[in-house]
Amino acid sequence: MSSPLESTTKTKNKDNQQTQPSLKSIDNKLGTSTGANIVLIGPPGSGKGTQSTRLTEHYKICQLSTGDLLRQAAHDQSSSEGQRIRKTMEAGGLVDDDIVLSLIDKNLNKPECRNGFLFDGFPRTINQGEKLEELLESKQKRLDAVLEYAIPDDLLKRRILGRLIHKPSGRTYHEEFNPPKESMKDDLTGEPLERRSDDTTETLNARLHTYHKQTTPLIEFYRQRNIHRSIDATNKVSNVYQQSLELIENFRKQPTYKPILIDENQNIIRQIETTVDKNEIDNTLTIKTKPVNNQMNVDTSTLSKNFLFVYNSVTSVLRDHGII
Ligand code: AP5
Ligand code: MG
Repeated sequence: MSSPLESTTKTKNKDNQQTQPSLKSIDNKLGTSTGANIVLIGPPGSGKGTQSTRLTEHYKICQLSTGDLLRQAAHDQSSSEGQRIRKTMEAGGLVDDDIVLSLIDKNLNKPECRNGFLFDGFPRTINQGEKLEELLESKQKRLDAVLEYAIPDDLLKRRILGRLIHKPSGRTYHEEFNPPKESMKDDLTGEPLERRSDDTTETLNARLHTYHKQTTPLIEFYRQRNIHRSIDATNKVSNVYQQSLELIENFRKQPTYKPILIDENQNIIRQIETTVDKNEIDNTLTIKTKPVNNQMNVDTSTLSKNFLFVYNSVTSVLRDHGII
């Protein structure tokens, strides 16, 4: 099924995303691969949802958008939790970590997530980032890439205030950049389009404030783990998509992640052997996932192409088994 952005290519002005080379041709150029574990971080309107649809299709993984999951939960106006969630979202704040984490935990076990997952808008705080590490460690999974969609605040107002959504499918349009074929109607079903209740100037300002205060510290958190890259999200949809794929592929080629022990001051104590019983570890220590670059200290630029292929394959298997 082609997405709305692909379906109207070639007919729009210079700002319009549909003037892009086809997304299919980008997929063809970069080849297809299955499975990845990805986090998308970015302010409201930076394009997380737009890119999620394409990336999850490419990697055949599930999309877990905490915004969408919370909107579903808020729908139940009869429960006090539903009402609380709705209030927080309309005020542009962050919903309680416990609620968000339990939604993630539940949804991660779904069969659609067996090849991997893409978190759209999660984690949003250092605490959520730490809790996610614990959760993934308990499931013996790890993140491949954290992509930040960077864009100045003043460009976001136009994107957010012009957004139209088809609620049942999650398809997103834009009055100016990606208009539906027929005004306020979904291209595929003809059903009415809506605006999100938090897409107002007032709530957008609050959402941006929350993003800068609570979410941007996460960028440094993931930079330290060497799995973060920033992408210029002012670019056209297809350019952002292409860059996202290239960065994810680069990360997947490099074994950069391994479990280690760190103390309260974030100092590395020692590497955990796979046989260590976590219950025996001293209480003052916590287990975290930290980057370790080029763990065999090999200058890969001097290796032949064939040897490099074997080297990458072997280190990848060793890494997956927690041996390096
Ligand atoms: P959420 O639904 O995640 O909202 P958000 O982070 O504010 O992001 P948006 O969905 O508004 O933007 P987007 O980046 O997905 O942009 P899109 O692709 O749609 O969260 C909502 C609320 O839920 C939060 O405020 C919070 O209260 C709560 N919440 C969520 N997660 C939480 C968590 N982990 N913890 C606690 N609370 C949480 O694009 C926007 C528009 O721009 C579209 O119209 C699109 O067509 C257009 N567009 C996209 N890309 C481009 C481009 N490159 N060029 C031109 N136009 C573009
Ligand atoms: Mg979104």
